[in-house]
Amino acid sequence: MTQKGDGTSRSAGTPDFDIFTADASDAAVFYGIELECFDEPWTLSDFEGELSFDHTLAFKACEGDCCVGFIIASLFECELYIGDLAVRPAYRRAGIAGRLMRTLFDRAGKIEAAYLEVEDGNDAAIGLYEKFGFRKAGFSRNYYEHHRPDGTKYTVGAWRMVYENTRD
Ligand SMILES: CC(C)(COP(=O)(O)OP(=O)(O)OC[C@H]1O[C@@H](n2cnc3c(N)ncnc32)[C@H](O)[C@@H]1OP(=O)(O)O)[C@@H](O)C(=O)NCCC(=O)NCCS
Repeated sequence: MTQKGDGTSRSAGTPDFDIFTADASDAAVFYGIELECFDEPWTLSDFEGELSFDHTLAFKACEGDCCVGFIIASLFECELYIGDLAVRPAYRRAGIAGRLMRTLFDRAGKIEAAYLEVEDGNDAAIGLYEKFGFRKAGFSRNYYEHHRPDGTKYTVGAWRMVYENTRD
């Protein structure tokens, strides 16, 4: 996952928000948030597909009727793969991603391990995942391909991060 924007924080304190299970009907709203948050976003059909699989666990954070963030993961047996996580820039640093992560782990039940990839330099996301017990377990060069406005491309590496459940 590769991020966009400057991580602008919300200044008006912690918002009241609720976490709900998400499904395919949330695809368009998630896509809108994705466009705000990533330079190389998932497509609308990526969301429609991911949100319709039986193995998908997805949650959304809402302030009233307004969806401000989401997490999408795949649960295979006792292994969880986190595919996408985003919080709208104006709502960051208010604990929303942390709530989404906690809800995901609670609802995933007893897992043995969790995995994800995160772009090198995405310190906000890496800090979040480390807070949840993930550690860097490998680095892939040229993992993400970015497109400049002039049509040229460049690549950025990604950390594979792993969480291993040593408690149960
Ligand atoms: C990464 C992201 C989801 C974090 O969302 P958030 O709601 O702001 O995160 P939270 O407020 O729940 O923060 C939880 C922890 O994450 C870490 N963190 C979050 N933002 C951070 C930042 N800007 N710098 C450093 N650490 C940060 C901290 O450990 C924080 O705990 P703390 O508040 O006790 O210090 C958000 O910045 C985002 O949407 N970024 C763009 C999309 C993206 O990169 N997604 C992840 C792709 S792998």
